[in-house]
Amino acid sequence: MKVLGILGSPRVKGNSDILLDQALAGAKEAGAKIEKIVLSQKKISGCLDCGKCNEAGVCVIKDDMTAIRKKILEADAIIHSVPLYFWAMTAQMKAYLDRWCAFFDAEWQWHKAYAPRMKGKKVGLITVCGDPDPSTSDPIVHSFKNTCEFTELNLYGVVKASASKKGEIMGNDKAKIEAFELGKKAVQK
Ligand SMILES: Cc1cc2nc3c(=O)[nH]c(=O)nc-3n(C[C@H](O)[C@H](O)[C@H](O)COP(=O)(O)O)c2cc1C
Repeated sequence: MKVLGILGSPRVKGNSDILLDQALAGAKEAGAKIEKIVLSQKKISGCLDCGKCNEAGVCVIKDDMTAIRKKILEADAIIHSVPLYFWAMTAQMKAYLDRWCAFFDAEWQWHKAYAPRMKGKKVGLITVCGDPDPSTSDPIVHSFKNTCEFTELNLYGVVKASASKKGEIMGNDKAKIEAFELGKKAVQK
């Protein structure tokens, strides 16, 4: 069982990073092999909508997404953690998500080679926003929820939290426990 953590904040050791670490600790405790990818430390260009991936499922852009897509395919669950930037996900997370395009054919169906590994795969989401109301991050939840519904991924859990200053979430035991449980749940059948 492999659980992949994807950090969409450029602020390493920031709030969404702390919650992602909690989730990965939960997954590890439940027996998973874990790995974290910090998107801001990778080279990930935006999707060009060139359509070249429609045939073979191979993206023409040769950057770090090639290796990340391989890890996505190998993972049993992927937990994303991302802060809210101007009522949306960060640019790093959006570029990453758009590059999932290469997994699909022209009809937005999983490429045959990928479908067995991807259909029903567990996806978790953690959001952090500065607004005291954690639901301010709902536009990100909406984006992941629709994407997962559309592509038959299993969005098995969402944790929403509020924090502003770097590391402030450390004082939020509820959010930390929820994130830990999200990680554990990634491993459960
Ligand atoms: C460019 C930018 C835009 C932001 N936009 C919002 C916003 O629209 N709503 C909000 O509640 N917080 C917003 N924030 C605050 C962050 O969501 C908040 O500080 C969060 O804790 C950052 O998480 P991190 O420590 O994981 O990077 C913004 C922060 C930045 C840097």
